[in-house]
Amino acid sequence: VEVILQPTPALTWVSTGGILDLYIFLGPDPQSVIRQYLQIIGYPMMPPYWSLGFHLCRWGYTTTNTTRKVAQRMHDENFPMDVQWNDLDYANKRRVFTFDPWRFGDLPEMVEEFHKRGMKYILILDPGISSTSTPGTYSPFDDGLKRDVFIKNATGQILIGKVWPGPTAFPDFTNPDTRQWWEDCIRDFHSKVPVDGLWIDMNEPASFVQGSVEGCPDSDLENPPYTPSVVGGRLNSGTLCMSARQKMSFHYNLHNLYGLTEAYATHSALLKIRRKRPFVLSRSSFPGIGRFSGVWTGDVRSDWEQLRFSIPAVLQFSLFGVPLVGADTCGFGGNTTEELCVRWMQLGAFYPFMRNHNDKPNAPQEPYVFGQRAQAAMRSALYLRYSLLPFLYTLFHHAHASAETVARPLFMEFPNDPNSRTIDKQFLWGSSLLISPVLEQGAVELAAYLPPATWYMFTGFTTLWQFLLLPAPLDTINVHVREGHIIPQQEPALTTTASRNNPFFLIVALSAGGWARGDLFWDDGESVDTFEMQNYCYVIFTSQVVSNPLKLNGALDSLVLGGLQVFGVPSPPRYILANGEKVRDFTYRTDTKVSF
Ligand SMILES: *[C@@H]1O[C@H](CO)[C@@H](O)[C@H](O)[C@H]1NC(C)=O
Ligand SMILES: *[C@@H]1O[C@H](CO)[C@@H](O)[C@H](O)[C@H]1NC(C)=O
Ligand SMILES: *[C@@H]1O[C@H](CO)[C@@H](O)[C@H](O)[C@H]1NC(C)=O
Repeated sequence: VEVILQPTPALTWVSTGGILDLYIFLGPDPQSVIRQYLQIIGYPMMPPYWSLGFHLCRWGYTTTNTTRKVAQRMHDENFPMDVQWNDLDYANKRRVFTFDPWRFGDLPEMVEEFHKRGMKYILILDPGISSTSTPGTYSPFDDGLKRDVFIKNATGQILIGKVWPGPTAFPDFTNPDTRQWWEDCIRDFHSKVPVDGLWIDMNEPASFVQGSVEGCPDSDLENPPYTPSVVGGRLNSGTLCMSARQKMSFHYNLHNLYGLTEAYATHSALLKIRRKRPFVLSRSSFPGIGRFSGVWTGDVRSDWEQLRFSIPAVLQFSLFGVPLVGADTCGFGGNTTEELCVRWMQLGAFYPFMRNHNDKPNAPQEPYVFGQRAQAAMRSALYLRYSLLPFLYTLFHHAHASAETVARPLFMEFPNDPNSRTIDKQFLWGSSLLISPVLEQGAVELAAYLPPATWYMFTGFTTLWQFLLLPAPLDTINVHVREGHIIPQQEPALTTTASRNNPFFLIVALSAGGWARGDLFWDDGESVDTFEMQNYCYVIFTSQVVSNPLKLNGALDSLVLGGLQVFGVPSPPRYILANGEKVRDFTYRTDTKVSF
């Protein structure tokens, strides 16, 4: 379907055919529209806590030792990071479910080393299965042939396309036998290389030949009466023949579902094999994929325009029920620059999913390759993100449990404010944190908009509803806290494994009336269905009292509140009580009206 936005305003829908089911969600407010939509397509999964940490990837970490050195440098230079990734470099002749015996021979040991240090490991998994290995040497294909799991061409033989390993067959994930075979392949690989998640790329599905190595028959499915403006001008450009046969139907009817069906199969397999919350990241997407997977915005270029576009891209996926989303920070294609990479890491610190990923021919872009000033700016953005992870995790809980958004456009929170409707250069986390990143080269200040409320900077200074110029030198990303909210934080560390043991802190941003509210969802961060199984704790904070926890399990005993800051206290407190005892060391600043 092609949808054209007309100036009238109106929408023109053009379909290649089939059955159209139209749903209209009446809201009335934007948040209700999203909830009604997600009631149809499914609420998003709860991601593992560690997946909200920083991820580092590159095509071109060509050996285990190179990969180890990257992770070690990150640690030595004090950059928080939870997950080290490998692109297809790891695979033997670029074939999935194998690893290169020379350059990645000790991959299993490397993964164990990461695990011992409280880190996680993820690698790429493409769907294309090499079809030209000597029979008996590559079991994913041999076994797949036997179990009849591959997509067929119009005359009923296996359709062969071309991807990274050369000629490949494509699993048909609409076939239950294929999902079982896929699970067995993952189980076998995982028994050698205990990956913590899988990155499913090339799953449009992408192919380097048009349709198949044999081309496609000349038929209505390949050349329908109307072809939308797709890349390459034909429905089978860069992918499979539309006349190809899958268990459920022709590929014509299933093409857009390929990534979704693969994400479902991969999520289910990881769940059965690891018995922990699965992490899957997909390039292709379709409504409903948020139940199984996160999404990244694909191979973006390293330039300022793509930096800017990444905000509407992330916000759209939020509305589509895929809260775990981000663009590759610093850009993937082409060389980044130091300034662009700093600004992108600052913005990326507020993508719900944060990964720095780079293409093979490019200059490196790990944070530690830049000058000291740039490194300091990136480090502080990462520390800020890590300190806010309890808050971010709680937002994900609300997305999972009640279809709220995590990264949120301003208009959702301020639907009656006309100024908020057009803003796509700023966004919110939940309802209370406003993020205003620099998106222009050379800028040291920023034209920003503060929607109708009082907003606090992290220093406690307040600003009112207005358009304004904010100072934004290279080391600064502007973040404001909305009045009436309490933000739970935790002292950051180099991994979430470590930070999860640190004391919590609260920022209490009082409204003019002197109240504020916030909450914390907490569990072990990786067990399956903790919310559904009542295996979590949930605490509501209000400005007067820290409430009795609404939901308790043993885990709460180990949570320590290390301190809190109250913004907007009009006059110095005479005393402060904690659990009925007077607190000796508190401070009050008359300029910012912050009480520590
Ligand atoms: C990695 O480095 C270790 C220690 O320097 C060395 O023993 C090993 O041979 C290297 N592995 C590869 C695959 O180069
Ligand atoms: C299907 O694949 C077989 C084997 O590659 C080939 O001989 C045949 O021509 C293909 N059919 C179509 C319609 O492309
Ligand atoms: C990108 O950087 C690499 C490595 O520093 C260099 O070889 C290459 O020429 C650069 N590419 C461009 C387009 O500037």
